[in-house]
Amino acid sequence: MKQTIIICYVSVITVFCFLTAFASENGWLNKNIELTDVNGKKTALLQFGSPIDDSKLTAWMRKGDKTLYSENGRMTYGILYDSDAAVETGNSKQGMREVMIKGFIKSSFISTSMDEALREYEDKYYEICSSCHSAISHRRFSVEQWAGIMNSMKTHAKISDNDSAGLYRYIKLIITE
Ligand code: HEC
Repeated sequence: MKQTIIICYVSVITVFCFLTAFASENGWLNKNIELTDVNGKKTALLQFGSPIDDSKLTAWMRKGDKTLYSENGRMTYGILYDSDAAVETGNSKQGMREVMIKGFIKSSFISTSMDEALREYEDKYYEICSSCHSAISHRRFSVEQWAGIMNSMKTHAKISDNDSAGLYRYIKLIITE
């Protein structure tokens, strides 16, 4: 009897933990993550700052291009490795079609505000980019100008390709938001 109660208790806790880890969430991705299928094969890369609805990413794709775009095509949300992981929603416009990416995203990777999702790179921005001069206001330059600036700062500040790509994405998300 006692054993049954313990087994029941453990099962309830396990189910609860599972449900909370995969509960439907809305918000923004706070990390770059790679989705995998049931066999562990990588199906898509999803980038931080991308909007998540009901624990899923919806994006737009152009023919012959694996990039996942925002609706206006100005931001990228990631890269599709395996076309089986994308389900067409039926919506299309201006040569782009809307897709929903299969695979659940853990709630710990979803922040409820964009500010919170960008916190990691915001901290990096103020840490790395204000050591030689004061931190520069994001909106002082255009997205195109920032691309050139980040290129020269990458050499100046000796930051890794990863950090520089992440910092550029962070700036772009703030400007285009
Ligand atoms: C090692 C020192 C150093 C670090 C670290 C550094 N910078 Fe700079 N930055 C400079 C110098 C020197 C200049 C002026 C010369 C130039 O433009 O190349 C400059 C100029 C700039 C300018 C142009 C300002 C203007 O008014 O034209 C921007 C924007 C900028 N940095 C952004 C950044 C960002 C973003 C980072 C972080 C990724 C960063 N910097 C990190 C040294 C640094």
